[in-house]
Amino acid sequence: MTYALIEQAKDVLRHNDRGTYTVPTDGLYPFQWNWDSCLSALGLSHLDEARAWTEIDTLFAHQWDDGMVPHIIFHTPNDSYFPGADVWRTGRDVPTTGITQPPVAGFCVKRLFDRCQDRDLARARARALVPQIHAWHEWFFRCRDPRGTGLVAILHPWESGRDNSVDWDAALDRVPTEGVEPFVRRDTQHANPAHRPTQKQYEQFMWLVQHFRDLGWDNSKLHDASPFQVVDPGFNAILIRSCSDLADLAQELGETEIAQKSRDFAARGAAALDGLWSAEHGQYVCFDRAVGELVDSPSIGGILAAFTDIPPQNALAIAARINLLAKEAKFMVPSHAPKAAEFDPLRYWRGPVWLIVNYMIADGMERAGQHEIVERIVSDSLRLIELGGFAEYYGPLDGEPCGGDRFTWTAAIVIEFLTRQKALA
Ligand code: GLC
Repeated sequence: MTYALIEQAKDVLRHNDRGTYTVPTDGLYPFQWNWDSCLSALGLSHLDEARAWTEIDTLFAHQWDDGMVPHIIFHTPNDSYFPGADVWRTGRDVPTTGITQPPVAGFCVKRLFDRCQDRDLARARARALVPQIHAWHEWFFRCRDPRGTGLVAILHPWESGRDNSVDWDAALDRVPTEGVEPFVRRDTQHANPAHRPTQKQYEQFMWLVQHFRDLGWDNSKLHDASPFQVVDPGFNAILIRSCSDLADLAQELGETEIAQKSRDFAARGAAALDGLWSAEHGQYVCFDRAVGELVDSPSIGGILAAFTDIPPQNALAIAARINLLAKEAKFMVPSHAPKAAEFDPLRYWRGPVWLIVNYMIADGMERAGQHEIVERIVSDSLRLIELGGFAEYYGPLDGEPCGGDRFTWTAAIVIEFLTRQKALA
């Protein structure tokens, strides 16, 4: 059973392999996505270590001069996705978008490095990547935390990786739709429109893209000029964890200056993250920087914060929170609390379960010693696969597979979970 599933997952990775990068899925997402690639590299490493490193190398080959690593690289023209390169117009030789995505590369590279069989290869590849990843982290704190709070803001919901989360509703209300150029969505031609973001949200997404494009994608201006500035605890936890993993890796490779700076970033971030704790919800919540208010929204972002080291009492509370959610939904961990009014079981990030998020939460819970929760998350994840195949995401109430199928990062995480189980057996 385990063996057959691992083989099927490997087939998905091979199917979506374009030589030096993978696409998230055929059709719906025909280019390279930032955090998809980093997390998928973990799965690829079980097939071919060199290929796994190449996945991340390819992403960083498209890093901007200011340090930003874009959210999509449009390697080859393809008009089955909107908004394509012609809309972003970022002026790059190989076109990219002008925004970023959750910075999980530091974590992934450290994980690849730690378990790589080919040590010489790992040292060579990691040595080249460490300064590039560090430059990205520096970019974050320079351009997305200009007042030095220790936490960074996202300027577009797509940066969060959780496109239509309830977390953004209030902030998006301040984003107009007047002046948005007419467009034809492609996502709703590949997936059920009832499972996707709404038309109004798409118009607001596009307004932000046009606004940033009008500012010439100049990252020294974008933050202060954006009506949308949200500090997401999950996103920041990924950044803090990546900084601290990069610190360890840099230390091991003799890059002591990078190690020290990365440790400082992580320490400042961890201290500031405390300010996003909600005793009421027993988890972290977002902070709407544009208005200076916490966002009263119990989403997965505030649970994903456990991916980085948090105070033990908060890790305990998050474990209790997941236990509570397990009474409200069949499959852990829903992207929004089922009891909340906005919960929508099949609409993208407003309820469904995503395996990559499960992987990061489980990893954090493992470090915090919450082993029972880890087992629950892993077994729910694998049950979803057995029931519905390698989908993009799943309904938490009935396990319905949704979105694109034969999904790369879903397959990668299945390999990770099954390999872990085999090792424990
Ligand atoms: C969607 C997801 C995002 C992901 C992308 C490609 O936009 O919300 O997290 O990176 O699809 O899979």
